[in-house]
Amino acid sequence: MSVMRVRGIELAYEVEGSGSPVVLLHGFPFNRSLWGEQVAELRARHRVITPDLRGLGESPPPDDEAATMDEMARDVAALMDELRATRAVVAGLSMGGYVALSFQRMFSHRVRALVLADTRATPDTEEQKQAREEMARKALDEGAEAVGEAMLPKLLAPRTLAERPETVARLRAMMRKQKRRGVAAALRGMALRRDHTPFLQNVLAPTLVVVGSEDALTPPTDAELLRREIRGSRLVKLEGAGHVSNLEAPEEFNRALLAFLKDLEP
Ligand code: MLT
Repeated sequence: MSVMRVRGIELAYEVEGSGSPVVLLHGFPFNRSLWGEQVAELRARHRVITPDLRGLGESPPPDDEAATMDEMARDVAALMDELRATRAVVAGLSMGGYVALSFQRMFSHRVRALVLADTRATPDTEEQKQAREEMARKALDEGAEAVGEAMLPKLLAPRTLAERPETVARLRAMMRKQKRRGVAAALRGMALRRDHTPFLQNVLAPTLVVVGSEDALTPPTDAELLRREIRGSRLVKLEGAGHVSNLEAPEEFNRALLAFLKDLEP
């Protein structure tokens, strides 16, 4: 693990492999280790950069009350600067996808291609914003683990929950290590995110959309909207996987990702 000071904060990250850069942005409330199975596959042909987004994993919580998706995207751009990665394939799952969309919007010239997994372009409704604030308070009062436990039933497909105790344990371990202020800031940041829907038609980067067929948080209808609005994009639905599709169906996820990356080669 390395730590880089960027934009007045510290970001923990890892870089593995060599070749054209791929940046993998984790979901909430997780950390960079979410991408273990993908890093193992990609490192033979790519330089894989996995940050812990601000306040999460081993990146210390910032002083601000909210960690917005735009701020997180600027952090990623600054980290890429430091690592001399001018352009990269930017892949994000769920909250990482919100960050990837912000990144695309602000730094489109730096996006070689986009991967949007189990995510959506639409903003939170008023009701969802309120629920986020309640969760943020829960994190501050009761600890990050309480938030994780409340979210768990929706994060994984019922079958994963029932039959894959090692996957459940892995998510729990990631959630348990979060800091309460970082979790609260990310929740408030997600509530503040912009509506990216009108902007999707401007996305010119080759785009892969991935979704678990059982995703209860960002269901296939969200992925279909991304597919419809982003010109030339490709949608892969992973049967039986829930919201954390890269962990629930790693082989199928990797197959889709590798095929997409191969098609980008000259
Ligand atoms: C995530 O998995 O990153 C979050 O659950 C997304 C969200 O809550 O909107």
